[in-house]
Amino acid sequence: MAGRFISLEGGEGTGKSTQAKALAKAIESKGITVHLTREPGGTPGAEIIRNLLLTGQEDKWNMRTEALLFAAARAEHCQSLIEPALEKDEWIISDRFIDSSRAYQSVSGQLNDEDIMALHRVGSCGLMPHRTFILDLPEEVAARRADARDRGDSDRIGGRDSDYHHSVMSKFREYAKDEPGRIKLIDAAESQEDITANLLHDLSDLLD
Ligand SMILES: Nc1ncnc2c1ncn2[C@@H]1O[C@H](COP(=O)(O)OP(=O)(O)OP(=O)(O)O)[C@@H](O)[C@H]1O
Ligand SMILES: [Mg+2]
Repeated sequence: MAGRFISLEGGEGTGKSTQAKALAKAIESKGITVHLTREPGGTPGAEIIRNLLLTGQEDKWNMRTEALLFAAARAEHCQSLIEPALEKDEWIISDRFIDSSRAYQSVSGQLNDEDIMALHRVGSCGLMPHRTFILDLPEEVAARRADARDRGDSDRIGGRDSDYHHSVMSKFREYAKDEPGRIKLIDAAESQEDITANLLHDLSDLLD
């Protein structure tokens, strides 16, 4: 069976990491080699860039620098981990990928979606996932879940205000409308087990 690249996307606290782990386990149980990975990060070099991006003061980087750092981390991730795995017919499940850059770093008046995709072409030859799941949860529910987990100690980007996170979630929903073949919007208010079953159902064409 061919290698497949799946990404999980959505705002903070929507259950991406929980589902990425559960999905990797379910697919591995079918005898497929799965790499569970994340962005920013996933390789030693990209994890160093992750640390630069997610720690420190909110205004430490301007939005252009931030977008370039994400693209640089992604270039490492694609070339050192994702592409070699796909060539070996293995699966990649990534906790966030390019759609997060589109939703978080395209900020009106600064960078648009075309700019983010241009950086992705330069850095990573425009590599796209075979399927993307956007975990959709009302923002207040997601914020409660993330707060319960972090006790208010969010990272540099997670700590931005509610208007910013509202705009991120609206953009994710738009992407799902624009690319219904690749992107599936998933109701993240259901139980963890039901969500994993829905993800597997939406992968059945790739698993056959
Ligand atoms: N379906 C669910 N129902 C209730 N709680 C959940 C569900 N899925 C995950 N959680 C809990 O919500 C919290 C956030 O989940 P998780 O860490 O997977 O989200 P995330 O999207 O990876 O967040 P972040 O963007 O901050 O990395 C965790 O404490 C997790 O145990
Ligand atoms: Mg997470």
